[in-house]
Amino acid sequence: MAKPDLMERVVNLSKRRGLVFPSSEIYGGFRSTWDYGPVGVLLKRNVKDAWWRTMVQLRDDVVGLDAAILMHPRVWEASGHVQAFTDPLVDCRNCKERFRADHLPESGACPNCGAKGSFTEARRFNLMFETHVGPVEDDASVAYLRPETAQGIFVNFLNVQTTSRKKPPFGIAQIGKAFRNEITPGNFIFRTREFEVMEMEYFVPPEDGPRWYEYWCQERLRWFMDLGIPEDELRLRPHDPDELSHYSTGTSDIEFAYPWGWGELEGVANRTDYDLRRHSEYSGQDLSYYDQDADRRYIPHVIEPALGADRCMLAFLLAAYHEEEVRGEKRTLLRLDPRLAPVAVAVLPLSRNERLNPVAHEVADLLRPRFMIDLDDAGSIGRRYRRQDEVGTPRCVTVDFDTLDDRAVTVRDRDSMSQDRVPIDKLVQHLEEQLSA
Ligand code: GAP
Repeated sequence: MAKPDLMERVVNLSKRRGLVFPSSEIYGGFRSTWDYGPVGVLLKRNVKDAWWRTMVQLRDDVVGLDAAILMHPRVWEASGHVQAFTDPLVDCRNCKERFRADHLPESGACPNCGAKGSFTEARRFNLMFETHVGPVEDDASVAYLRPETAQGIFVNFLNVQTTSRKKPPFGIAQIGKAFRNEITPGNFIFRTREFEVMEMEYFVPPEDGPRWYEYWCQERLRWFMDLGIPEDELRLRPHDPDELSHYSTGTSDIEFAYPWGWGELEGVANRTDYDLRRHSEYSGQDLSYYDQDADRRYIPHVIEPALGADRCMLAFLLAAYHEEEVRGEKRTLLRLDPRLAPVAVAVLPLSRNERLNPVAHEVADLLRPRFMIDLDDAGSIGRRYRRQDEVGTPRCVTVDFDTLDDRAVTVRDRDSMSQDRVPIDKLVQHLEEQLSA
């Protein structure tokens, strides 16, 4: 399928099947903000759960944190964001639209009106949203909506390290909302002004920084492949020195082959001791670590894998979207890994029937504690299979008239469409084996 079509089809599917809606749609939408519907919220939650499981649950060297969005304004001075978290902004003198200078086409033409040579000189535009805390709007009440969750981790370094009694190398992970007043948001949920980010700050002895940086680049790449993104749709791209963030000595982007070309999916950065050192200076608190075994004190260096949950969900959707022809009819399906699929099992009575319905409810109640299920009895069975394929449901369980006699159901596989007859009393075990494989 041509790549531009793919994006349009994923956006349409998202709207049609309740994954993602334009925010405030009845008012005409609002500036590239999006809401997650009943199916989308499940997919996004599964993306975040998969990340948390890999980064926290399955490791004994990473702990979690949930810090506040509003923080002391000095945090953002210390972190360098007040001074340096900027993008270059240009105006088109002809149509008055604004653009990121580093996102302009090589032709030099305005992407909006086509005028050539119409841009103003680039000026720095700070991406942080400013607000005021409390009833008085003056300089003393200024606060920022966090543009990254990482700073919540750095300012809690001592709290977490002492209470968890972790020693470097160890990490602190966090998932939460971040806000950036992007000049040119767009490409659906790829770049938005409000998004969720999944970040882990991994604190290591200074001399071990480069080794752990390599380690996390490879670990993160593996995570995407394990969850079904094909290897040839991913690549690791080290930043050029002039691209590096103000805090980084080395960053690699894990890039994905989006329909419009290669683009950032996740960033892995070597932040050195920049953040802890700056917070020590600005707060007056000593954020160094005393290594008893080696009898030495140092400020840990930090390796940071940081990934947007929304952008990650988009990559999984794009990689999973397939169309195929089955017996002369088009079938659309999301080949999502069962760990990500919004609904794990659909329970479908063959038809709306007073004898089948109680059994379908019984099966649904049996499965509900173990799996996210959808009990669907509206429309023909063929249409219901297609609806489930479109949202990537890995297994459909059909209750038919034979079920009334043999207490068995038909289990249909999304990808192969093969069907197995399984006794109801073995169904949970059967599905658990299949879906965890
Ligand atoms: N603490 C490091 C940091 O914030 P970043 O590369 O600016 O690094 C991390 O952001 C990740 O967050 C990106 O790799 C991307 O997945 C996601 N992200 C960044 N800006 C975004 C935006 N405006 N909309 C959606 N996701 C975004």
